[in-house]
Amino acid sequence: MTPSAATVEFDHVSKRYPESAEPAIRDLSLEVPAGEVTILIGPSGSGKTTAMRMVNRMVDMTAGDIRVDGVSVMDRSPAELRRSMGYAIQQIGLFPHLTVADNVATVPKLLGWDGARVKARVAELLELVGLEPAMAKRYPAQLSGGQRQRIGVARALAADPPLLLMDEPFGAIDPITRSRLQEEFRKLQQHLGKTVVFVTHDIDEALKLGDHIAVLKPGGVLAQYATPEELVRSPADAFVEEFVGVDRMIKRFEWLLDVRRQGQGA
Ligand SMILES: Nc1ncnc2c1ncn2[C@@H]1O[C@H](COP(=O)(O)OP(=O)(O)O)[C@@H](O)[C@H]1O
Ligand SMILES: [Mg+2]
Repeated sequence: MTPSAATVEFDHVSKRYPESAEPAIRDLSLEVPAGEVTILIGPSGSGKTTAMRMVNRMVDMTAGDIRVDGVSVMDRSPAELRRSMGYAIQQIGLFPHLTVADNVATVPKLLGWDGARVKARVAELLELVGLEPAMAKRYPAQLSGGQRQRIGVARALAADPPLLLMDEPFGAIDPITRSRLQEEFRKLQQHLGKTVVFVTHDIDEALKLGDHIAVLKPGGVLAQYATPEELVRSPADAFVEEFVGVDRMIKRFEWLLDVRRQGQGA
């Protein structure tokens, strides 16, 4: 385990929202290894966002426990917990009235970094996510969708957190830009080695980016937790088989493995 990554353990976690009869997550147990990308995937309403938000206590679980590096999230304050983790989401996320630089600097400023250190970090992050230094002075409305999503990722990385929570971070953009951001994210992650919990409903994105994939079924039940290869070759049940679309996927997966190999060689 590298010091720049954290483990996350879901230990028999359940969540039922007060106003609903059925749980959103039922008895979820899985371990997210340090330094790996773990994908939460499933159809809409299967509890992906709920599972992720229990990690930083935007949602509190009803039963069970979540431990980050062995410490229960219930023993930490929500504010401190959120400052210690990066969080990137599909919608909004950026403050419209703040410049790109101020958006990226949100958490470092909350942590009390001095001005020079914040400025240097913002410059470093813009470069890391492939944006021109001049972007720092722009406002979110002056950026393209793809640029905004890069800023979202830069902001999540700003304080160099060991753990990143990403909820469909490349969701609302065109397929070509999306595919480029996925590729850049994968390379960035090979270099940074963070622990990443990544929510998506796109199986191609999951197979492309995940070291491990947790498939949730309707009702918030874990159907399978496996590597991309295991998921494709031995789906645990008919639901996973259909969700992954085995026959269609195997050829496609061989192709993705090639893409990954080429990426690692580059
Ligand atoms: N704040 C909330 N209050 C009540 N029910 C909610 C709330 N957030 C989500 N739910 C319900 O919990 C279930 C899982 O939602 P969610 O975690 O957003 O799923 P996903 O991210 O997989 O689409 C859904 O049935 C949803 O309607
Ligand atoms: Mg969601």
